[in-house]
Amino acid sequence: MDLSLDHWYHILAPRPVVLISTVNSNGVSNAAPFSFIMPVSSDPPLIAFASAPQRHTLRNISEVKDFVVNLPGYEVLKELWKCAEDIPYGVSEIKRAGLTEKRADKVRSPKIGECFAHFECKLVSTYPLGDHVLVVGKIIAADIRDDLIDRGEYQIIKSNPLMHIREKEFGLLGRIVEV
Ligand SMILES: Cc1cc2nc3c(=O)[nH]c(=O)nc-3n(C[C@H](O)[C@H](O)[C@H](O)COP(=O)(O)O)c2cc1C
Repeated sequence: MDLSLDHWYHILAPRPVVLISTVNSNGVSNAAPFSFIMPVSSDPPLIAFASAPQRHTLRNISEVKDFVVNLPGYEVLKELWKCAEDIPYGVSEIKRAGLTEKRADKVRSPKIGECFAHFECKLVSTYPLGDHVLVVGKIIAADIRDDLIDRGEYQIIKSNPLMHIREKEFGLLGRIVEV
């Protein structure tokens, strides 16, 4: 059957979902979930995500020129959902969701303590495309919870990363297969 193009990306699923944390020029922090996210270059390490133009996240990044990509596990699901609520500009969604703000090493935007890995990014460029704005950042520092690396190997099942399917539905990684 033909597929409706209304929400075609619901079929391109599940997609990893991240929490992007930012700060505005007055020092008020913010966080929001984003699933339109992808790596774009390994060296230099570049990451991109697409934001609707009205997002406070985009406004903060335009002001401060940095952001943190936080990787949430299943235990952060409820808080992540709270960060997606539409609340007035200038209210810290991190604190409101009951999440912990941690100082980042290299950028002004904070890290979210409950997330298992963090990529600290400097803004490289923004590109208005269709009904979104593509934001490209360079990762200048990164960290991961100690127990998620065993003998140099990332323990993905243990980190239990959240993936977005559609609306309120999320997927979890069930099984790894090898070719
Ligand atoms: C799982 C999930 C994924 C989302 N992905 C995106 C996305 O990729 N791009 C986007 O613009 N909004 C996305 N949203 C919506 C924003 O997170 C939401 O509108 C949020 O309130 C924006 O916050 P802000 O205005 O403080 O930046 C997503 C929401 C959820 C729940």
